[in-house]
Amino acid sequence: MAYVLKSARYLAADILRQAVAPGDAVVDATMGNGYDTLFLCELVGEAGRVYAFDVQPQAVENTRQRLAEAGVLGRAALFCLGHEQMAEQVKEPVSAVVFNLGWLPGGDHSVTTHWETTRRAVDSALKLLKPLGVLVICAYPGHAEGDRERQALMEMLANLPPQAYNVLWHKFLNAGPGAPECFAVQRQ
Ligand SMILES: C[S@@+](CC[C@H](N)C(=O)[O-])C[C@H]1O[C@@H](n2cnc3c(N)ncnc32)[C@H](O)[C@@H]1O
Repeated sequence: MAYVLKSARYLAADILRQAVAPGDAVVDATMGNGYDTLFLCELVGEAGRVYAFDVQPQAVENTRQRLAEAGVLGRAALFCLGHEQMAEQVKEPVSAVVFNLGWLPGGDHSVTTHWETTRRAVDSALKLLKPLGVLVICAYPGHAEGDRERQALMEMLANLPPQAYNVLWHKFLNAGPGAPECFAVQRQ
């Protein structure tokens, strides 16, 4: 079959498939409509745990329904809380943390992620990762707040000590300034 270079979301999923094993604990920092939460529930299996966060009750409800229909709701702890409160809720090391920044597709575009809270959550996520655990972030610089958030995120991640973390940055260089980008950080 022909090999096709894939975009940010696909790369994020590929990394998670490699990094997450049955029985692991993981975090979905932006549950939205629950697609990533469901994917993580499948990866961790029956013995695993997925902690998921969103500030919108509708996102939590959409995710709850999606997981229930798939029969995996028991693997997840869903919090209607900002991901900046991750450290208070997650008390065990995790093999992956996922952020899909921006707004809820089909929802209110004014409820988007913001750098001030994203920064605190990314900081907590880095501390929660177990050795070889990964932090995967999809960023969307195609709108003003998304661009600001991506810029600040890049500065933060570029300054992580290489003895402690490896940082990867993926984007299609010729896809225009608003194209999605994927950041992957692995704890050494
Ligand atoms: C692009 S969507 C996520 C899509 C989701 N991963 C999925 O699979 O459907 C971004 C989500 O981040 C949420 N969000 C915004 N600020 C947040 C915060 N401080 N903490 C957690 N979630 C937040 C929004 O409500 C929105 O649902």
